[in-house]
Amino acid sequence: MRSSVLGSVCALLLLLREPACRGDEVTSSTVNPCCYLPCQHWGVCVRYGDDRYECDCTRTGYYGQNCTVPEFWTRVREFLRPSPNVVHYILTHFRWLWDIINHTLLREVLMRLVLTVRSNLIPSPPTYNSRYGYLSWESYYNLSYYTRILPPVPNDCPTPLGVKGKAGLPDPELLVERLLRRRTFRPDPQGSNLMFAFFAQHFTHQFFKTYNRMGLGYTKALAHGVDAGHIYGDSLERQLHLRLHRDGKLKYQLIDGEMYPPSVADAPVKMSYPPGVPPEVQMAIGQEVYGLLPGLGMYATLWLREHNRVCDILKVEHPTWDDEQLFQTTRLVIIGETIKIVIEEYVQHLSGYMLQLKFDPTLLFNTHFQYGNRIALEFSQLYHWHPLMPDSFFINGDELSYTQFLFNTSVLTHYGIEKLVDAFSRQAAGQIGGGQNINSVVAKVAVGAIKESRELRLQPFNEYRKRFNLKPYTSFRQFSDNEEIAHALEELYGDIDTLEFYPGLLLEKTRVGAIFGESMVEMGAPFSLKGLMGNPICSPDYWKPSTFGGKVGFDIVNSATLKKLVCLNTRTCPYVAFSVPKEDQSQRGKDDNEVRTDEL
Ligand code: HEM
Ligand SMILES: *[C@@H]1O[C@H](CO)[C@@H](O)[C@H](O)[C@H]1NC(C)=O
Ligand SMILES: *[C@@H]1O[C@H](CO)[C@@H](O)[C@H](O)[C@H]1NC(C)=O
Ligand SMILES: *[C@@H]1O[C@H](CO)[C@@H](O)[C@H](O)[C@H]1NC(C)=O
Ligand SMILES: *[C@@H]1O[C@H](CO)[C@@H](O)[C@H](O)[C@H]1NC(C)=O
Repeated sequence: MRSSVLGSVCALLLLLREPACRGDEVTSSTVNPCCYLPCQHWGVCVRYGDDRYECDCTRTGYYGQNCTVPEFWTRVREFLRPSPNVVHYILTHFRWLWDIINHTLLREVLMRLVLTVRSNLIPSPPTYNSRYGYLSWESYYNLSYYTRILPPVPNDCPTPLGVKGKAGLPDPELLVERLLRRRTFRPDPQGSNLMFAFFAQHFTHQFFKTYNRMGLGYTKALAHGVDAGHIYGDSLERQLHLRLHRDGKLKYQLIDGEMYPPSVADAPVKMSYPPGVPPEVQMAIGQEVYGLLPGLGMYATLWLREHNRVCDILKVEHPTWDDEQLFQTTRLVIIGETIKIVIEEYVQHLSGYMLQLKFDPTLLFNTHFQYGNRIALEFSQLYHWHPLMPDSFFINGDELSYTQFLFNTSVLTHYGIEKLVDAFSRQAAGQIGGGQNINSVVAKVAVGAIKESRELRLQPFNEYRKRFNLKPYTSFRQFSDNEEIAHALEELYGDIDTLEFYPGLLLEKTRVGAIFGESMVEMGAPFSLKGLMGNPICSPDYWKPSTFGGKVGFDIVNSATLKKLVCLNTRTCPYVAFSVPKEDQSQRGKDDNEVRTDEL
């Protein structure tokens, strides 16, 4: 009401060329002021009336209309804080220094620092979701939503990403075709192999289970973290079907004397298979989609064997325990082993750090760390690591095309676990960052991710850069060192501030000799470490031997390795690692002493 009166007054004054009103006309009376994404440094934009906003700068360390003016101590901290690229450079160079640090208490001190600095970037308890761009009880309480770190771009803005950029965004198919689809396979310079790639997919799909039938931004994985739901199912009903109900074990079948997941005929749970695959041939696994890829079936089999192996060990220790207690305790051991392997081997490999990472929950006991986790939509978007996938699969002298590999239920049992582990450990995975490295077969998944992010109104890449304490890029040329990519993006988006989140992560210039660029690390690591250490088993009341069935179980957790997961559950011990064998890494090490000066 009032504003329309004001509007008319302005219209009148405008005729008289009153400058004060002209400025207002454009910015306020028509456009939602929060579309300007005005609030900096984690400030919260709140709309008042229809043309006014306020930034809530409480506890941001900044003040002023847009939370841009630093308080004194913020200024000091900002001055002292090293840039992420400097920290990364130190962590990935100076082997002699780390050789010393690895053996001193400094290792623990630095590990604690890594964990706290990273997880402080993740709000806990969680905040927004796809329905609520403001805090609400529903958003906190309803676990069916993924959370999100930044609220959606308001939906009444002049352009898709607020006020900047063109009226329309580039066609997602065109984006993927020009910039993301692979021309020739580019191996990961860090040496990642398919054992790593399938681990990534297997591990993350226990908590990334987008539930599009319920609506956009929903998840089926209500535990929001490492619950081993991919082994035990995401509901009690499913779990009960998968259990043997004897000695805590899971159902299984023997093929050529080796243990595999049971058939769906024996454990009647819904699995996603193409039509026509009979239940006797379908394998029953916690995660319903894991029948589709032999790499996922391989890990499912390894964890199944590990679960039943641990049950046997605990049963010897506790002959009086019933099936239920053996099952439940073994599940906690499996979760513990998973986190141990993820931090000390998977993240260690991915980071390229020479600091030897340590899974030790006691590091956080005297900090303000909050136990708990909520999976974020941005984390799910960010983890679309399809460039890892090769062009074909080399197993035991055979080359399998995608058509022969995907949905093929016989690959797993035809070769057996040893041969698959060996093959996947020797075959290089693709570099994730740098663009043009997604095999055509999975390129449409990237199209889907981009479409999803638009429907969910994800904020621009540069806003996420700022949210994770990184400087926003000022040009496409600064963002990418690939002439063709920078040029195409310039043409497609026009403004670096409207570059989208997922294309930003995949197309950013990679760090020297690294699997991806700065943003993937600086945004991915906080989600990852918060999720791993926020697990209840890491909290003071859980993290003790009795939780895991006593010293024996606790020792299993604390000494878990990828190699043991494989070799304690197979007859022969194949080559097993997250990177291709050293002699195959001809490119590695060469770039080690190169520095990109603009990085520092
Ligand atoms: C040949 C191998 C693969 C195929 C055929 C494949 C296929 C797919 C498909 C069809 C989707 C669903 C897309 C949609 O609903 O829009 C998807 C989602 C996804 N994929 Fe893959 N993928 C493969 C490998 C990988 C790998 C190695 C990773 C590494 C982490 C990965 C990470 C993801 C993630 C995070 C999602 C989103 C899941 C969710 O939110 O529910 N994928 N993939
Ligand atoms: C705050 O942001 C708005 C919108 O971007 C801008 O017009 C205004 O000048 C900014 N105010 C200050 C004090 O920087
Ligand atoms: C320190 O840890 C890193 C990472 O695991 C490793 O590369 C390096 O060889 C270690 N140094 C020593 C002396 O353990
Ligand atoms: C969560 O929200 C969805 C969508 O509004 C609703 O269908 C569902 O019942 C809610 N779940 C709970 C537990 O309230
Ligand atoms: C499935 O895999 C087996 C074993 O590797 C192979 O012989 C067969 O050709 C594959 N089936 C299809 C339909 O490609």
